[in-house]
Amino acid sequence: MSTRPRRPAPATPAPGKVALPDLAGQKAEGVPIAMVTAYDAPSGQAAAEAGVDIILVGDSAAMTVLGYDSTMPITLDEMLVLTAAATRGASSADRAPLVIADMPFLSFQPSDRDAILAAGRFVKEAGADAVKVEGAGPTLERIRAVTGAGIPVMGHLGLTPQSATQLGGFKAQGRTADAALQLVEDALLVQEAGAFALVLECVPAEIAGAITERLRIPTIGIGAGNRTDGQVLVWHDLLGLGAGSSPRFVERYADLHRASVDALGRYVADVRSRAFPEERHTYAIADEELAAFQAGLAAAAL
Ligand code: KIV
Repeated sequence: MSTRPRRPAPATPAPGKVALPDLAGQKAEGVPIAMVTAYDAPSGQAAAEAGVDIILVGDSAAMTVLGYDSTMPITLDEMLVLTAAATRGASSADRAPLVIADMPFLSFQPSDRDAILAAGRFVKEAGADAVKVEGAGPTLERIRAVTGAGIPVMGHLGLTPQSATQLGGFKAQGRTADAALQLVEDALLVQEAGAFALVLECVPAEIAGAITERLRIPTIGIGAGNRTDGQVLVWHDLLGLGAGSSPRFVERYADLHRASVDALGRYVADVRSRAFPEERHTYAIADEELAAFQAGLAAAAL
Protein backbone atom coordinates (compact mmCIF):
# COMPACT_ATOMS: atom_id res chain seq x y z
CA MET A 1 0.00 0.00 0.00
CA SER A 2 1.31 3.45 -0.92
CA THR A 3 2.25 5.64 2.04
CA ARG A 4 1.97 8.82 -0.01
CA PRO A 5 -0.34 11.27 1.83
CA ARG A 6 -3.67 11.73 0.06
CA ARG A 7 -5.43 15.09 0.25
CA PRO A 8 -9.10 15.60 -0.51
CA ALA A 9 -9.83 17.41 -3.78
CA PRO A 10 -10.38 21.15 -3.35
CA ALA A 11 -14.12 21.90 -3.09
CA THR A 12 -13.95 24.58 -5.80
CA PRO A 13 -11.36 23.84 -8.51
CA ALA A 14 -9.80 26.87 -10.15
CA PRO A 15 -11.71 28.07 -13.26
CA GLY A 16 -10.07 28.02 -16.70
CA LYS A 17 -8.73 25.15 -18.74
CA VAL A 18 -7.11 22.06 -17.22
CA ALA A 19 -3.50 21.87 -18.42
CA LEU A 20 -0.85 19.15 -18.26
CA PRO A 21 0.99 20.77 -15.31
CA ASP A 22 -2.29 20.71 -13.33
CA LEU A 23 -2.36 16.92 -13.67
CA ALA A 24 1.28 16.60 -12.63
CA GLY A 25 0.43 18.88 -9.69
CA GLN A 26 -2.48 16.65 -8.70
CA LYS A 27 -0.14 13.64 -8.64
CA ALA A 28 2.42 15.53 -6.57
CA GLU A 29 -0.22 16.72 -4.11
CA GLY A 30 -2.12 13.43 -3.96
CA VAL A 31 -5.35 14.89 -5.40
CA PRO A 32 -6.95 12.07 -7.43
CA ILE A 33 -7.63 12.82 -11.11
CA ALA A 34 -11.21 12.21 -12.33
CA MET A 35 -11.50 11.15 -15.98
CA VAL A 36 -14.54 9.94 -17.88
CA THR A 37 -15.25 9.11 -21.50
CA ALA A 38 -17.61 11.35 -23.50
CA TYR A 39 -18.55 11.20 -27.15
CA ASP A 40 -20.76 14.16 -28.00
CA ALA A 41 -21.52 17.75 -27.03
CA PRO A 42 -24.09 17.07 -24.26
CA SER A 43 -21.86 14.49 -22.57
CA GLY A 44 -18.82 16.77 -22.93
CA GLN A 45 -20.75 19.63 -21.34
CA ALA A 46 -22.15 17.51 -18.48
CA ALA A 47 -18.71 16.07 -17.71
CA ALA A 48 -17.19 19.53 -17.66
CA GLU A 49 -19.95 20.95 -15.46
CA ALA A 50 -19.52 18.03 -13.05
CA GLY A 51 -15.86 18.99 -12.61
CA VAL A 52 -14.02 16.11 -14.28
CA ASP A 53 -10.36 16.83 -15.00
CA ILE A 54 -10.03 14.84 -18.24
CA ILE A 55 -12.49 13.79 -20.95
CA LEU A 56 -11.39 10.82 -23.00
CA VAL A 57 -13.11 10.43 -26.34
CA GLY A 58 -12.44 6.71 -26.20
CA ASP A 59 -12.53 4.33 -29.11
CA SER A 60 -14.96 2.50 -26.81
CA ALA A 61 -17.39 4.66 -28.83
CA ALA A 62 -17.27 1.85 -31.37
CA MET A 63 -19.19 -0.26 -28.85
CA THR A 64 -21.08 2.27 -26.71
CA VAL A 65 -22.21 4.63 -29.49
CA LEU A 66 -21.90 2.77 -32.80
CA GLY A 67 -23.03 -0.66 -31.61
CA TYR A 68 -20.04 -2.76 -32.71
CA ASP A 69 -18.90 -5.65 -30.51
CA SER A 70 -15.28 -4.46 -30.34
CA THR A 71 -13.33 -1.22 -30.65
CA MET A 72 -11.62 -2.27 -33.90
CA PRO A 73 -14.05 -1.05 -36.60
CA ILE A 74 -14.27 2.63 -35.64
CA THR A 75 -12.51 4.88 -38.14
CA LEU A 76 -10.37 7.97 -37.72
CA ASP A 77 -13.05 10.07 -39.42
CA GLU A 78 -15.74 8.79 -37.06
CA MET A 79 -13.50 9.50 -34.06
CA LEU A 80 -12.86 13.03 -35.38
CA VAL A 81 -16.59 13.81 -35.51
CA LEU A 82 -17.16 12.54 -31.95
CA THR A 83 -14.08 14.33 -30.61
CA ALA A 84 -15.04 17.67 -32.15
CA ALA A 85 -18.53 17.40 -30.64
CA ALA A 86 -17.25 16.50 -27.16
CA THR A 87 -14.70 19.33 -27.32
CA ARG A 88 -17.39 21.87 -28.24
CA GLY A 89 -19.57 20.70 -25.34
CA ALA A 90 -16.72 20.71 -22.83
CA SER A 91 -15.47 24.16 -23.75
CA SER A 92 -18.65 25.90 -22.54
CA ALA A 93 -17.93 25.17 -18.85
CA ASP A 94 -16.12 27.54 -16.47
CA ARG A 95 -13.39 24.96 -16.00
CA ALA A 96 -12.86 23.11 -19.28
CA PRO A 97 -11.38 19.61 -18.88
CA LEU A 98 -8.43 18.42 -20.90
CA VAL A 99 -9.83 16.53 -23.93
CA ILE A 100 -7.92 13.46 -25.06
CA ALA A 101 -8.75 11.64 -28.30
CA ASP A 102 -8.19 7.91 -28.55
CA MET A 103 -6.17 6.94 -31.63
CA PRO A 104 -8.28 4.20 -33.29
CA PHE A 105 -6.91 0.90 -34.57
CA LEU A 106 -4.60 1.35 -37.60
CA SER A 107 -4.45 5.14 -37.24
CA PHE A 108 -1.01 4.96 -35.62
CA GLN A 109 0.32 1.41 -35.93
CA PRO A 110 1.61 1.51 -39.56
CA SER A 111 4.21 4.29 -39.26
CA ASP A 112 5.37 7.38 -37.38
CA ARG A 113 4.10 9.50 -40.26
CA ASP A 114 0.60 7.98 -39.99
CA ALA A 115 0.65 8.54 -36.23
CA ILE A 116 1.68 12.20 -36.49
CA LEU A 117 -0.85 12.95 -39.24
CA ALA A 118 -3.73 11.27 -37.37
CA ALA A 119 -2.82 12.92 -34.06
CA GLY A 120 -2.47 16.24 -35.86
CA ARG A 121 -5.99 15.93 -37.28
CA PHE A 122 -7.37 15.40 -33.76
CA VAL A 123 -5.70 18.62 -32.63
CA LYS A 124 -6.28 20.76 -35.74
CA GLU A 125 -9.73 19.60 -36.83
CA ALA A 126 -11.34 18.37 -33.61
CA GLY A 127 -9.77 20.66 -30.99
CA ALA A 128 -8.33 17.83 -28.88
CA ASP A 129 -5.57 18.68 -26.40
CA ALA A 130 -3.83 15.31 -26.57
CA VAL A 131 -4.14 11.77 -27.89
CA LYS A 132 -4.00 8.30 -26.34
CA VAL A 133 -2.31 5.23 -27.80
CA GLU A 134 -2.36 1.63 -26.63
CA GLY A 135 0.64 -0.56 -25.90
CA ALA A 136 4.41 -0.53 -25.51
CA GLY A 137 6.83 -2.33 -27.90
CA PRO A 138 6.39 -0.77 -31.36
CA THR A 139 4.06 1.89 -29.88
CA LEU A 140 7.01 3.46 -28.03
CA GLU A 141 8.45 4.79 -31.29
CA ARG A 142 5.03 6.30 -32.13
CA ILE A 143 4.85 8.01 -28.73
CA ARG A 144 8.28 9.53 -29.37
CA ALA A 145 7.26 10.66 -32.87
CA VAL A 146 3.93 12.23 -31.84
CA THR A 147 5.31 13.98 -28.75
CA GLY A 148 8.25 15.06 -30.92
CA ALA A 149 5.71 16.75 -33.21
CA GLY A 150 4.45 18.70 -30.22
CA ILE A 151 1.30 16.69 -29.45
CA PRO A 152 0.96 15.33 -25.90
CA VAL A 153 0.40 11.56 -25.64
CA MET A 154 -1.24 9.44 -22.97
CA GLY A 155 -0.17 5.79 -22.84
CA HIS A 156 -2.41 2.77 -22.14
CA LEU A 157 -1.20 -0.57 -20.74
CA GLY A 158 -2.71 -3.70 -19.18
CA LEU A 159 -5.84 -4.76 -21.03
CA THR A 160 -5.46 -2.93 -24.32
CA PRO A 161 -8.68 -3.65 -26.26
CA GLN A 162 -7.08 -3.13 -29.71
CA SER A 163 -4.92 -6.20 -29.00
CA ALA A 164 -7.50 -8.14 -26.95
CA THR A 165 -7.24 -11.16 -29.26
CA GLN A 166 -3.47 -11.35 -28.74
CA LEU A 167 -3.99 -10.95 -24.99
CA GLY A 168 -6.40 -13.89 -24.90
CA GLY A 169 -9.61 -11.85 -24.69
CA PHE A 170 -11.01 -9.12 -22.48
CA LYS A 171 -9.41 -10.28 -19.24
CA ALA A 172 -7.22 -8.92 -16.46
CA GLN A 173 -3.48 -8.57 -17.18
CA GLY A 174 -0.34 -8.72 -15.03
CA ARG A 175 -1.56 -11.55 -12.81
CA THR A 176 1.69 -13.54 -12.82
CA ALA A 177 4.98 -12.23 -11.43
CA ASP A 178 6.56 -12.25 -14.90
CA ALA A 179 3.64 -10.47 -16.54
CA ALA A 180 3.54 -7.89 -13.72
CA LEU A 181 7.30 -7.23 -14.02
CA GLN A 182 6.85 -6.77 -17.78
CA LEU A 183 4.08 -4.23 -17.09
CA VAL A 184 6.39 -2.23 -14.77
CA GLU A 185 9.13 -2.24 -17.43
CA ASP A 186 6.67 -1.21 -20.15
CA ALA A 187 5.26 1.59 -17.98
CA LEU A 188 8.76 3.01 -17.44
CA LEU A 189 9.42 2.80 -21.20
CA VAL A 190 6.14 4.58 -22.02
CA GLN A 191 7.15 7.34 -19.61
CA GLU A 192 10.65 7.58 -21.11
CA ALA A 193 9.15 7.76 -24.61
CA GLY A 194 7.47 10.99 -23.54
CA ALA A 195 3.92 10.15 -22.44
CA PHE A 196 2.44 12.65 -19.96
CA ALA A 197 0.14 10.09 -18.27
CA LEU A 198 -0.68 6.38 -18.41
CA VAL A 199 -3.96 4.46 -18.32
CA LEU A 200 -3.73 1.10 -16.54
CA GLU A 201 -6.66 -1.15 -17.44
CA CYS A 202 -7.63 -4.33 -15.61
CA VAL A 203 -4.47 -5.03 -13.60
CA PRO A 204 -4.27 -6.06 -9.93
CA ALA A 205 -4.32 -3.13 -7.49
CA GLU A 206 -0.90 -4.07 -6.05
CA ILE A 207 0.72 -3.98 -9.50
CA ALA A 208 -0.98 -0.70 -10.45
CA GLY A 209 0.19 0.74 -7.10
CA ALA A 210 3.78 -0.43 -7.69
CA ILE A 211 3.76 1.19 -11.15
CA THR A 212 2.22 4.41 -9.81
CA GLU A 213 4.95 4.73 -7.16
CA ARG A 214 7.69 4.28 -9.77
CA LEU A 215 6.41 6.77 -12.36
CA ARG A 216 6.80 10.57 -12.41
CA ILE A 217 3.74 10.82 -14.66
CA PRO A 218 0.19 10.26 -13.34
CA THR A 219 -1.49 6.87 -13.72
CA ILE A 220 -5.23 6.61 -14.39
CA GLY A 221 -6.81 3.30 -13.47
CA ILE A 222 -9.81 1.41 -14.79
CA GLY A 223 -10.28 -1.89 -13.02
CA ALA A 224 -6.86 -1.27 -11.45
CA GLY A 225 -7.79 -0.62 -7.81
CA ASN A 226 -7.48 2.51 -5.73
CA ARG A 227 -3.72 3.18 -5.74
CA THR A 228 -3.48 4.91 -9.10
CA ASP A 229 -3.32 8.72 -9.36
CA GLY A 230 -6.79 8.86 -10.91
CA GLN A 231 -9.71 6.84 -12.20
CA VAL A 232 -11.55 6.59 -15.51
CA LEU A 233 -14.91 5.02 -16.30
CA VAL A 234 -16.80 4.70 -19.54
CA TRP A 235 -19.77 7.11 -19.75
CA HIS A 236 -22.36 4.44 -20.56
CA ASP A 237 -21.14 2.12 -17.76
CA LEU A 238 -21.07 4.88 -15.15
CA LEU A 239 -24.56 6.14 -16.01
CA GLY A 240 -26.14 2.74 -16.66
CA LEU A 241 -26.88 3.47 -20.30
CA GLY A 242 -26.29 -0.04 -21.62
CA ALA A 243 -28.91 -2.76 -21.40
CA GLY A 244 -26.44 -5.53 -20.49
CA SER A 245 -24.33 -6.28 -17.42
CA SER A 246 -21.16 -4.30 -16.58
CA PRO A 247 -17.65 -5.55 -15.77
CA ARG A 248 -16.96 -5.97 -12.03
CA PHE A 249 -14.84 -2.81 -11.82
CA VAL A 250 -17.75 -0.58 -12.85
CA GLU A 251 -19.77 1.43 -10.34
CA ARG A 252 -23.13 2.46 -11.83
CA TYR A 253 -24.02 5.91 -10.51
CA ALA A 254 -27.39 5.95 -12.30
CA ASP A 255 -29.67 3.71 -14.34
CA LEU A 256 -30.33 5.95 -17.32
CA HIS A 257 -31.25 3.03 -19.59
CA ARG A 258 -34.16 2.13 -17.28
CA ALA A 259 -35.06 5.81 -16.85
CA SER A 260 -35.00 6.29 -20.66
CA VAL A 261 -37.17 3.23 -21.35
CA ASP A 262 -39.66 4.34 -18.65
CA ALA A 263 -39.83 7.89 -20.00
CA LEU A 264 -40.18 6.72 -23.61
CA GLY A 265 -42.89 4.25 -22.60
CA ARG A 266 -44.89 7.11 -21.01
CA TYR A 267 -44.37 9.17 -24.19
CA VAL A 268 -45.68 6.33 -26.40
CA ALA A 269 -48.74 5.91 -24.15
CA ASP A 270 -49.43 9.67 -24.20
CA VAL A 271 -49.18 9.79 -28.01
CA ARG A 272 -51.55 6.85 -28.39
CA SER A 273 -54.09 8.34 -25.96
CA ARG A 274 -53.66 11.89 -27.34
CA ALA A 275 -52.69 13.06 -23.84
CA PHE A 276 -49.70 14.62 -25.59
CA PRO A 277 -49.45 17.32 -26.87
CA GLU A 278 -51.42 19.55 -24.49
CA GLU A 279 -52.57 23.14 -25.00
CA ARG A 280 -49.29 24.46 -23.52
CA HIS A 281 -47.25 22.65 -26.21
CA THR A 282 -49.29 24.24 -29.04
CA TYR A 283 -48.91 27.50 -31.02
CA ALA A 284 -51.97 29.80 -31.11
CA ILE A 285 -53.53 31.61 -34.06
CA ALA A 286 -55.68 34.72 -33.57
CA ASP A 287 -59.45 34.11 -33.84
CA GLU A 288 -59.85 36.49 -36.79
CA GLU A 289 -56.99 34.84 -38.70
CA LEU A 290 -58.54 31.44 -38.08
CA ALA A 291 -61.95 32.62 -39.27
CA ALA A 292 -60.38 34.13 -42.42
CA PHE A 293 -58.46 30.90 -43.02
CA GLN A 294 -61.64 28.84 -42.73
CA ALA A 295 -63.47 31.23 -45.06
CA GLY A 296 -60.57 30.95 -47.49
CA LEU A 297 -60.79 27.16 -47.40
CA ALA A 298 -64.51 27.26 -48.14
CA ALA A 299 -64.13 29.85 -50.93
CA ALA A 300 -61.44 27.81 -52.63
CA ALA A 301 -63.42 24.61 -52.09
CA LEU A 302 -60.42 23.02 -50.41
O1 KIV B 1 -11.72 3.64 -25.19
C1 KIV B 1 -11.86 3.82 -23.97
O2 KIV B 1 -12.93 4.17 -23.46
C2 KIV B 1 -10.68 3.60 -23.13
C3 KIV B 1 -10.88 3.63 -21.64
C4 KIV B 1 -11.49 2.37 -21.19
C5 KIV B 1 -9.60 3.91 -20.94
O3 KIV B 1 -9.63 3.38 -23.64
